[in-house]
Amino acid sequence: MALIDSRARTVIRGLTTYTPGKPIEEVQRQFKLSSVIKLASNENALGPSPKALAALRRAASGLHRYPDSTCRDLRARLAKALTVEPDSLVFGNGSDELIVLALRAFVDPGDAVVVASPTFLIYEQQARACGAAVTVVPLKDYRYDLPAMAAAASPHTKLIFIANPDNPTGTYVTKRELGAFLRGLGPETVVFLDEAYYEFVDAADYPQTLPYVKDRPIIVTRTFSKAYGLAGLRIGYGVAQPALAAAMNAVREPFNVNSLAQAAAAAALTDTAFLARTRRLVREGRRDLVKELDALKLRHVPSVTNFILIQLGPRSSEVAAALLSRGVIVREMSAWKLSGCIRVTVGTMAENKRFVQELKRCLAR
Ligand SMILES: Cc1ncc(COP(=O)(O)O)c(C=O)c1O
Repeated sequence: MALIDSRARTVIRGLTTYTPGKPIEEVQRQFKLSSVIKLASNENALGPSPKALAALRRAASGLHRYPDSTCRDLRARLAKALTVEPDSLVFGNGSDELIVLALRAFVDPGDAVVVASPTFLIYEQQARACGAAVTVVPLKDYRYDLPAMAAAASPHTKLIFIANPDNPTGTYVTKRELGAFLRGLGPETVVFLDEAYYEFVDAADYPQTLPYVKDRPIIVTRTFSKAYGLAGLRIGYGVAQPALAAAMNAVREPFNVNSLAQAAAAAALTDTAFLARTRRLVREGRRDLVKELDALKLRHVPSVTNFILIQLGPRSSEVAAALLSRGVIVREMSAWKLSGCIRVTVGTMAENKRFVQELKRCLAR
C-alpha cells in the first residue's frame, strides 16, 4: 500500500488502512494450490441464502434503474419482522457504513468518542478520520469493561461504540451489564450497539435491545453479511428513534444501498430454513472446534459467535503463515495488538476438520 499523500488532512495521514482477510484466489495463486478454505472473515460457510439468490436473478433485469433510495419494500418487511416503526430504520452499504453515518451525523471534530480495544477496528479508524478525540478503553479478560467505558465518558462524549458480541473476542455483554451502563449515561451521548453477530447468540442473558431504542439514544445495528450470507452485496441496517435515524439518513448518499442488495435482503428475511441451518452449523461447528482445541490444550476465548479467538503464543504468526501456505486462511491478530492469537471462523464440518488437521501439522513442525 502506498504512503498517504502529504496533502491529505492531518488526521487522515495518521491512519492505518484496514487490511481485510486474504481472498481465496490470491492464496491459490500465491501458493499454487487447487483447494483453499477461508476461515478469516466470519462469513457464512453455507454460502448465500437460496431465497436471496433467486430474488437476485429476478431483480437483475431492473439494473438499468437507480435503486429505491428509501428501501421502501425492504423497510416495510423488516419493520414488520422486527415490530418497529418503518421510520426508525436506516440502511447502509453494509453495517460498516452505519458506523460512518453515525459519526458524520453526531460527531464534530474535537468531540469525544469512546471505543474499546481490541474490538472492531473500524470504530476507532473512522472516528479518528472525523477528527474525534478518541478514548480507548481496554477489554478486561477479553470482555467489554462497561464500567470503565462509562467512567471514560463525559458530557462531551457524543458517541460510544459497543460490539455485542465483540469481534475479535466473540464475548458478549449481558443484559444486566448493559442495563447498568445505559442507566449511568447522560442524554447527550449516543450509544452505537453493533449486533453484527446477533443471530448466532443463544445465551439467555444476552440483551434483546430493540425495546431500549424507544426511549434511549441508542442505534442498534445488524447486518445481512453474516447469518444471511450476503457479505458481498453489502447491506446492513440500524434501528433507532426516528429522529436519530433521520440524522443518519440526512448524511448518507441517496443511493447507498444497491437494488440487488435490497431485493436479496428482503428475500433472505423470509428464508427461515436457511437461517436455522446456519445457526445449527455454527453451534455444532463451534462445539466441535472447542473440543479439538481443548484436546490440543490450546487456550481460546469462549465465543457466542461464528468465530473463535485462539491463543497460540509466540508462534502464532508463524503458524498462521504455515496454515496459509497449506491453503487454510485464518486471521493473524497483530493488527488488533493481540499478539500470540489467531481468529478462526467456524466453517462447514469438512472445513473445520481440515483446519484442525493442518493446525496439528503446523504445531508439530
Ligand atoms: C463487529 C462487526 N461489526 C460490523 C461488521 C461489518 O459488517 P458488514 O459491513 O458486512 O455489515 C463486522 C464485520 O466483520 C463486524 O465484525
